Amino acid sequence: MLIKTSTELSDSAVTPEAIYLQRRQFLQLGIAATASLLAPNIFAAANPFASATKSPLSTTEDLTPLDSVTSYNNFYEFGVEKTDPAQNAHTLITTPWTINVEGEVEKPGMISMDEILKNYPLEERIYRLRCVEGWSMVIPWLGFPLSHLLKAFKPNSRAKYVQFISVDRPEQMIGQKQKVFEFPYQEGLRIDEAMHPLTLLSVGLYGKVLPNQNGAPIRLVVPWKYGFKSIKSIVTIRLVEKQPLTSWQKAVPNEYGFYSNVNPEVDHPRWSQKKERRIGEFFKRKTLMFNGYADQVAALYNGMDLRKDY
Ligand code: MTE
Repeated sequence: MLIKTSTELSDSAVTPEAIYLQRRQFLQLGIAATASLLAPNIFAAANPFASATKSPLSTTEDLTPLDSVTSYNNFYEFGVEKTDPAQNAHTLITTPWTINVEGEVEKPGMISMDEILKNYPLEERIYRLRCVEGWSMVIPWLGFPLSHLLKAFKPNSRAKYVQFISVDRPEQMIGQKQKVFEFPYQEGLRIDEAMHPLTLLSVGLYGKVLPNQNGAPIRLVVPWKYGFKSIKSIVTIRLVEKQPLTSWQKAVPNEYGFYSNVNPEVDHPRWSQKKERRIGEFFKRKTLMFNGYADQVAALYNGMDLRKDY
């Protein structure tokens, strides 16, 4: 992955998110938006973003400011520079959107974003995000456990892993058009990791619809793994028997493994992972095992050699 030494945050790079986010919310909620002018309480009840509940799984650490979360991104579909996604991601059309859930499930099928927002109540989860490049943020996501969605499709006994595939639309994504990486972006989790209560499907942040540059309309968030596992703009979720190959394993097999758990004791072949720079802070801080989520997830890896199975 490309490494930047400076944050390169610029105010002008911040997309006017309020404008398009509100437009999308209004499209999704249709007539309810008009009704809200007369009956704001009814509107709040119909708006899943406004009625999200707080989660006990949230950290109480200081939040990374919204403009940093939305202007310093990795989303190669829109270019390889940190400021590219905020500048270019408005071209992705996210309504309508469906996810196909297929493979080793009893009930394969398609689910639309409207159905997702209707069926899965949203929680606010404030998680640390640690990028493999050595920077980190604290982000208030809106989402729901991936396990809730998977269970609805009834994984069978052969479902040992879950493969995730991002949208493939070169005509709407300039980085894909320029072939800066092998697309579509793909990721994977072991089934117990996918079913873990911390593993989130996120549809928003900071109380609003997910900005395009952060992976609209729906992305994965796996807080104890390096950020690249948290795949954006998902269109396919496939339950499989064998460990799937991920985009980064395919691109640089000697640098990236399947598990990619945050681990300060296992260096990247080209740099140390002992410390990280929290965006907005001057001094580096120590990186924590499993990004600080060891109490909840260490047991998933009992008996594994985390130096070998990185
Ligand atoms: N998902 C897709 N489809 N394409 C990408 O390039 N980048 C990953 C991950 N998900 C990426 C992706 C990386 S390297 C990181 S660190 C996180 O998204 C960044 O998420 P953020 O931009 O919302 O902070």
